[in-house]
Amino acid sequence: MARKNEFLNLIKKQRDTKKTERFEGTFLEYLDLVKNRPESVKLAHKRLYETIKDRGIETLDVDSELYRDIFNGDKIRTYNYFEKEFFGMESVINKLMRFLKSAAFKGEESRQVLLLMGPVGAGKSALIDSVKRALEDAEEYYYLEGCPIREEPLHLLPRSLRGDFEDILGVHIEGDLCPVCRHRLMTEFDGKYECFPVKQTGFSQRGRRGIAVVPPMDANSQDVSVLIGTEDISKLDLYPEDDPRVLSLNGAFNVGNRGIVEFVEVFKNEIEFLHTMLTATQEKRVPSPGKNDMLYFDGVILSHCNESEWNRFKSEHTNEAILDRVLKIEVPYVLELHQEQKIYEKILDKSDFRGAHIAPHTLKVASMFSVMSRLQPSNKCDLLTKMKIYNGEAIIEKGRVKKVDIRDLKDEAKHEGMEGISTRFIMKALDAALSDSDNGMITPINVVDSMIKQVKEQIIDEDAKTRYLEILQKVIREEYLRILETEIAKAFISAYEEQAQSLFDSYLDNAECYTTKTRVKNKITREERDPDEKFMRTIEEMISVTGSARDGFRNDVTAFMFSKMRKGETVDYKSYGPLKEAIEQYLITSVKDIARIVTRSKSRDDDQKKKYTDMISTLIEEYGYNESSAEEILTYASNNLWRDS
Ligand SMILES: Nc1ncnc2c1ncn2[C@@H]1O[C@H](COP(=O)(O)OP(=O)(O)OP(=O)(O)O)[C@@H](O)[C@H]1O
Ligand SMILES: [Mg+2]
Repeated sequence: MARKNEFLNLIKKQRDTKKTERFEGTFLEYLDLVKNRPESVKLAHKRLYETIKDRGIETLDVDSELYRDIFNGDKIRTYNYFEKEFFGMESVINKLMRFLKSAAFKGEESRQVLLLMGPVGAGKSALIDSVKRALEDAEEYYYLEGCPIREEPLHLLPRSLRGDFEDILGVHIEGDLCPVCRHRLMTEFDGKYECFPVKQTGFSQRGRRGIAVVPPMDANSQDVSVLIGTEDISKLDLYPEDDPRVLSLNGAFNVGNRGIVEFVEVFKNEIEFLHTMLTATQEKRVPSPGKNDMLYFDGVILSHCNESEWNRFKSEHTNEAILDRVLKIEVPYVLELHQEQKIYEKILDKSDFRGAHIAPHTLKVASMFSVMSRLQPSNKCDLLTKMKIYNGEAIIEKGRVKKVDIRDLKDEAKHEGMEGISTRFIMKALDAALSDSDNGMITPINVVDSMIKQVKEQIIDEDAKTRYLEILQKVIREEYLRILETEIAKAFISAYEEQAQSLFDSYLDNAECYTTKTRVKNKITREERDPDEKFMRTIEEMISVTGSARDGFRNDVTAFMFSKMRKGETVDYKSYGPLKEAIEQYLITSVKDIARIVTRSKSRDDDQKKKYTDMISTLIEEYGYNESSAEEILTYASNNLWRDS
């Protein structure tokens, strides 16, 4: 009983707030309201732009080298509204918002159709859905009561008075009264427009208020009434043909007036159909059914298609008029590994598999596949390296950070991101692996298997199939084994971070003294000695710094660290890429043998047993495994990593 009351209270409360907040009054009262709040009068593009913008904008750090390279020096803003849901799409979102902004200021864009063009699963529909949802949360708007297209009440003002009212109210008035309201004004209110009732409402796609979606239609079923409404045949007997009362204004342009009209896979429609779209953008008018006047239309027209549809449409010169009205934004796949990974984290988090155990590196390995499948080979570096460079990772070669310019790589691969493995393909592989698992867990090992299976079954193009299988069975497999080897070794080293840091400190002390030709002073005993050449060499060998290269390396490290310290930045063993790599390799090498022996051994002595259980608990407590996944990767490591030894 108590519970029931609780429900009822909630329901009532929500209903009451809705009721009290919504405006209802005459046009005269509405004029007063506009005088006080002129900003409530807005055209569709502006409302949409401001709704999204008002959630907050940040400017990405353009000084950061990585961002500068990824975005080709462009200034990039991030919009809080999209931030939690879209990853690696900053460029696309910036273009979309630039379009809305210019359109809001009544640039040519307000008379254009926005077209998102890109490969399957690149996020086009998701982005448009999100934009539509923004509108559903937008401030409510005012309209003439009973108007089938919920038009702006200011349309009531006769042309001759508009200049005066614009001055008094401080707003711009655009658009003409629709035939239905005009008829009502004359018959019901005897032309006294100040008495016309005005109401307030919000946007709703399901309620068909201000948001309309036009699905693609084949030539046979295509009927322009889907866009502009019809005449109600039953009423044709009652009224003359040109009487607005016969109109049934429920087409997409009627429903989407003041908000958004979305065309799904726009070029699948017949050309005649698209001409209505053209008139709507260009003239801001749509035909009305039967013999009535054109109707004023104010809305944002959004559409999407894939590349082959676009190319086909573009190749016909009869389509030029339409192409001229289209602002195309390319929506490529994500090419940055860490961003791609966030997509799957997001989708899994929303799915029924939310509680499943996902072993470390699983989504990374899956994302490696989709990203690499999208990359064009380059002769500047191999595919894996290219992926890492795009991801902002430092590539160490012969003791130096390898300098490959992202911009050079992008310049030679203009079409990159428009083809390859889609997000949906990866999701299906993850789903399949999760459904097959009997302990509610997935690991990189069974996800790679699942992806291989899916490539074999679903990729028809033989060349692509071969290329994808090579990425999975060779490149990713080897990279994962490397990751695994490091991780297991790390788990064998107790207090890994501290050990690495202390190696770093002593390397830095020695290298500094070596470079400045001074002696190393023991901090406690104050004893002095020469720099430890043997120790430095052991570290340097890890990254193949030998012979005459040593002096340069020691110099570089010392100079780098001191310039950082001078700037007041803290330094640790991760500060300088090449040295970090060397230290990690050193530590890993030091435990490699014991790691292999202890892991593979069937009968462990007491010391080994302890090492083994300690390692397992590090994997679980610090690296995010559970018992089954730890066991699975260790078995895999025994069978693959250390097979030859
Ligand atoms: N960059 C991205 N950031 C966040 N989510 C993404 C991204 N790219 C794709 N997705 C997700 O991938 C899924 C598929 O995307 P969506 O359906 O929007 O693709 P689409 O471009 O409309 O494809 P299609 O051409 O097949 O209709 C969605 O769940 C979407 O949220
Ligand atoms: Mg779609």
